[in-house]
Amino acid sequence: MTANAALKARRDRTIGPYSPLFYDEPLQFVRGSGVWLEEANGERYLDGYNNVPHVGHANGRVVAALAEQAATLNIHTRYLNERVVDYSERLLSTFAPRLDRILFGNSGSEANELALRIARQLTGSTGVIVSDYSYHGTTITLAELTTGLRTREPLGPHVRTLRIPDLDRDQRPEAEVLAETLAELDAAIASLLDEGYGVSASLFDPLFSTEGMPRVPEGLVAGIVERVRRAGGLVIADEVQSGFGRTGGWMWGHDFAGMTPDLVTMGKPMGNGHPMSAVVTSEAILDEFGSRNEFFNTFAGNPVSAAVGEAVLLEMEAEGLMDRAKRLGAEARAEFDRLAATHDFVRAAKGTGLFLGLDFAVDGVPAPELAKRVVEGMKARNVLISRIGRDESVLKVRPPLAFGEAELPILLGALTDSLSDI
Ligand SMILES: Cc1ncc(COP(=O)(O)O)c(C=O)c1O
Repeated sequence: MTANAALKARRDRTIGPYSPLFYDEPLQFVRGSGVWLEEANGERYLDGYNNVPHVGHANGRVVAALAEQAATLNIHTRYLNERVVDYSERLLSTFAPRLDRILFGNSGSEANELALRIARQLTGSTGVIVSDYSYHGTTITLAELTTGLRTREPLGPHVRTLRIPDLDRDQRPEAEVLAETLAELDAAIASLLDEGYGVSASLFDPLFSTEGMPRVPEGLVAGIVERVRRAGGLVIADEVQSGFGRTGGWMWGHDFAGMTPDLVTMGKPMGNGHPMSAVVTSEAILDEFGSRNEFFNTFAGNPVSAAVGEAVLLEMEAEGLMDRAKRLGAEARAEFDRLAATHDFVRAAKGTGLFLGLDFAVDGVPAPELAKRVVEGMKARNVLISRIGRDESVLKVRPPLAFGEAELPILLGALTDSLSDI
């Protein structure tokens, strides 16, 4: 038995065999630096997948800030702390002026749970609209609206789902696809109103990451926002995957999508691996919620988290990571487009910034097995990527934002070779 197989057996006997692991033969990383990871066997892997280590694995600035603050003071949030306020101001300055208040949490799930709670209280309604292939977190509320992952809880009676169209798959005229989707939304809203749930919120990832980064019709996001607001609901943008410059050129996925939500939730990259999340909203919404609830979260937004979050923002700025994501993303996307055009089993290139994919299909039928072979082929070439989408047929290439010029040819070379194997 290999060392990794032995560790997996111990893991199965403790954590259990149900907690997912990537790859047919799972990897065990023992060290990380920048965009490189070292496996227990000493081999180096290029990280083309992980968005949590946003500014790079074991980033020096983040580690120093964490250690320095932890060695000075860490305390819950019921005392004044300048660093927490400094960080809040810095983070809020990246939003449109209307989004000027922040509530901290410890995970993306917590942030989405809180955003939904706020929306319920403000609207007096419980109805929620989500995409029909999405994931927003682990709580009961979120399990009842999970459509993109196996959950035992059935969809809540107050939940309606919307199929997000993909113009790379649907060959009909764009206007027809848009009209059909918005009519579906109208019907969903009408049914929530008819059954007395009302509309408290829509909850979407502005990039539709889990859905496989569909190419949506122009006007879809604006149409959703307009209809949800008209029905009295709030618009929540789940930026757990799409935020912090991922799209290249835009700090937030909702800016990329051209809309201003009522509530923005964020997590994963925010603390570069340190567990932290937030809900950003307006003064009016916070006043409504804050004045009616004694809301307090022990660990959320503590000084160490603030130091880490601040270091992430400073590092992004110092290294120009958003601009780099835009530049490298455009370069990579051009190559992905070329690969799509030259391989008949690749239907389309997907994504923007440093979140890219290739959608595999044979004779118009999604081909997840080919996507899986490429993911394993990349692994054999020591490059990490994964798959997404309702058919798991879309490659998920979403490296740390610290990904650099030197690494791009390595990733693209491994991808080209892995496609040639098929
Ligand atoms: C879009 C989105 N929202 C929310 C979550 C939940 O975040 P967390 O696992 O930090 O609770 C995830 C996690 O994968 C996610 O991808």
